[in-house]
Amino acid sequence: MKLSYLWRGLPGHPLHPPLTDATIGAYTAAAVTGLASVVGVAEKPAAHGWWLALVVGLIATSLTALTGFADWLTITWGTPLWRTATLHMASMLTATVFFLIAALVGHGGYTHGAVEGGPFILTLVGFAFLTLGGWLGGAITYVYGMRVLSLVEEPAHRAVAPAPHPEKEEAEGG
Ligand code: HEM
Repeated sequence: MKLSYLWRGLPGHPLHPPLTDATIGAYTAAAVTGLASVVGVAEKPAAHGWWLALVVGLIATSLTALTGFADWLTITWGTPLWRTATLHMASMLTATVFFLIAALVGHGGYTHGAVEGGPFILTLVGFAFLTLGGWLGGAITYVYGMRVLSLVEEPAHRAVAPAPHPEKEEAEGG
């Protein structure tokens, strides 16, 4: 057992990917409810949902970014994987800045029950960077195979068990 399992997750069960689901889900909800409010569908409740989803996304981002950062630190600097992961980080941090500014300048829209144009555009720009970052994150996992064990013969009960797989080191970042 390694102490780093606490913040990086176990081999075969990394922490960063499930947290990214929560984060991307919250920001997706913000984009959808923001659009609903702007076009006048359930304008007031949608404005409330938009701002609350942004705040939930920002809170989730803190844990998501920390676990991603912990994995990023294990990558050999200057490698193609490192360059891809660093671009991923830059894109996600840029998205976070846009979502944060949208939540700050859009608070009035939340209290008045109507999302304004400026904060909605900031939300969409944040979402574009989030999508780009998600694409790059996918490349880290599915192109480079970072944190992937690929134990195709592993019995199901061992694959799902919350226990390390000591017989196989992970690709980069094991
Ligand atoms: C809003 C914040 C972030 C989101 C939504 C996010 C999203 C993602 C996604 C979707 C993947 C692919 C996971 C999969 O295959 O299921 C990924 C992988 C990865 N991300 Fe992020 N990321 C964020 C922040 C960061 C940051 C700040 C860093 C580095 C400082 C980082 C480093 C990594 C690394 C190293 C991987 C591949 C290994 C792993 O799964 O941990 N991420 N990220």
